[in-house]
Amino acid sequence: MIFKSNNNIETKQLGRTLAAQMKGGEVICLYGDLGSGKTTFMNGFINFFLPGKRVLSPTFIIVRHYNISNKKIKNILHADLYRIEKVENIDILGLAEFMNKSDKVMAIEWAERLGKYLPVKRIDIKFDIISESKRNITMTAL
Ligand SMILES: Nc1ncnc2c1ncn2[C@@H]1O[C@H](COP(=O)(O)OP(=O)(O)O)[C@@H](O)[C@H]1O
Ligand SMILES: [Mg+2]
Repeated sequence: MIFKSNNNIETKQLGRTLAAQMKGGEVICLYGDLGSGKTTFMNGFINFFLPGKRVLSPTFIIVRHYNISNKKIKNILHADLYRIEKVENIDILGLAEFMNKSDKVMAIEWAERLGKYLPVKRIDIKFDIISESKRNITMTAL
């Protein structure tokens, strides 16, 4: 499904809408150029569970954990693989161990860098820059 976002707020709102549908165990894979809106989307997603929480890009630390008090979901992992150079480094991160755990949701920016660790069952979200403030956001559940 393709959504058209006209500004940050609409992108955050889309993130919130997806968050409201989470049951636990999902792996969300985010793709798109730098500045296309992946972290902005995740801001809305995480703020659905943690209103007002400051969501920083995990670019430099690679993975951020958020503990949430939700009936089914205990943690959100927000990862950014931009700085990952070799797929072997995914092993070191232990990301694969967190995938498809029923009490966790994982969201991974630059998920194409997962290589062989890219799970078959996932939600793909592709961000395309249309203009300075417009984005096309394509979601596919695999
Ligand atoms: N419609 C939009 N949706 C998301 N971000 C937008 C939009 N329009 C402009 N922007 C800007 O684009 C940038 C997106 O940055 P960010 O979410 O960090 O991208 P990424 O994580 O994909 O690198 C921000 O500076 C944001 O203000
Ligand atoms: Mg980002």
